[in-house]
Amino acid sequence: MPEFFDDAIAYMGFGPTDTEALRAFRPRVEPHYGALVDHFYACIAAHPAAVAVITGGPAQVERLKVTLRDWLVSGLGGPHDQAFYDRRARVGRVHVRIGLPQHYMFTAINVMRVDLRLLVDEAYADDPGARSRVSIALDRWLDLELTIMLHTYREDSDDRLDRQARLAAIGQLAASIAHELRNPLGVMESSVYLLRRRTHEDAWFAKHLDRIKGQIDASGAIIAGLLEMARDRAPSPERVSARRLVLEALEGAQVPPHVEVVTRGIDEGEAPTVQADVSLIVRALINLIENACKAHAGSPGRVEIDVLPGEHGCVDFVVRDDGPGFDVEVLPRAFEPLVTTRATGVGLGLALVRRVAERHGGLAWARNRPAGGAEVFMRLPGGA
Ligand code: HEM
Repeated sequence: MPEFFDDAIAYMGFGPTDTEALRAFRPRVEPHYGALVDHFYACIAAHPAAVAVITGGPAQVERLKVTLRDWLVSGLGGPHDQAFYDRRARVGRVHVRIGLPQHYMFTAINVMRVDLRLLVDEAYADDPGARSRVSIALDRWLDLELTIMLHTYREDSDDRLDRQARLAAIGQLAASIAHELRNPLGVMESSVYLLRRRTHEDAWFAKHLDRIKGQIDASGAIIAGLLEMARDRAPSPERVSARRLVLEALEGAQVPPHVEVVTRGIDEGEAPTVQADVSLIVRALINLIENACKAHAGSPGRVEIDVLPGEHGCVDFVVRDDGPGFDVEVLPRAFEPLVTTRATGVGLGLALVRRVAERHGGLAWARNRPAGGAEVFMRLPGGA
């Protein structure tokens, strides 16, 4: 078990007698599981910022009631071991992923604590010794639950800080390297131009000059990406149609002739609006489209761009390809700067997309499609 959790157990003195006391209390709680979970979700329903994360309506609430009942069964029954910790850490990460504000952990546990305390008082009205033992065990267990929940929020915030620090360091380095490389590239470019004027009738020279020019342009694009990352400009969002963003990105993206691009959800009158800084989001979409095109590595393929309603009134831009998909080793780090599986490219495209999405109060994530290929999501706040 992680050190902090062992430490919390030791600090509180949580031990086998607590687990035993909770286990003995569990049959007294069983008849009340329904009322406990109903009250728990009634409190959530009464708080708009809490209920906002429940995007699946009453059907999701019913499913969640079942998971909460299981949570009670396993929490009261123990054992409070590694498997217990792992399960709880997973639940914590679910809450972080759905963006549940952290203070609801305290308030929700408090609701459960008060309700369970009332049941302890009722069950052990004639046995003050047992009442006190179970109350103490209950407090310790719920505080352990809180300790794990808060740790997952901490993990998430540490991850964000790490990413920011890495981006800042890369940004400084990138800005100076990019600056130094611009001049030599400019000289190469004008030399190519001059050579082309002299050798335009020689196909062999022309082919190789085209290649050099192509590589100069590729280097220029890497430099532009590095400088964009280094600038890390704060977005100035405006209400804009997703259709405009996708169409502008398609105009700016280099789509090779062997790749067919299909769009959905951007027809006039149908496309949603988002809060977006047009130039930043168009750049991010260009990155996604060009990445998806490169996944086909020269062979014919298809790139799909879907605009869909996302959770919490957001809008999701999904870019899919039918290439080989992400390497499973790389997938969890796909959005970190300098992480790439391709032989060309420095791995800035997705890092920029995430940075830009987060700067807009949105998200970016990726996964492999079950049928093969990759899909990358960029979620932006809706413009309503
Ligand atoms: C602090 C007490 C809480 C406990 C013990 C708890 C427990 C759980 C459990 C066991 C799950 C299932 C996780 C999984 O899929 O593996 C879950 C998911 C979820 N919880 Fe909580 N929860 C708590 C607080 C809240 C609050 C205050 C909200 C506010 C709305 C909430 C909203 C959700 C939602 C929306 C999911 C489902 C996410 C998804 O399936 O994508 N939870 N919770």
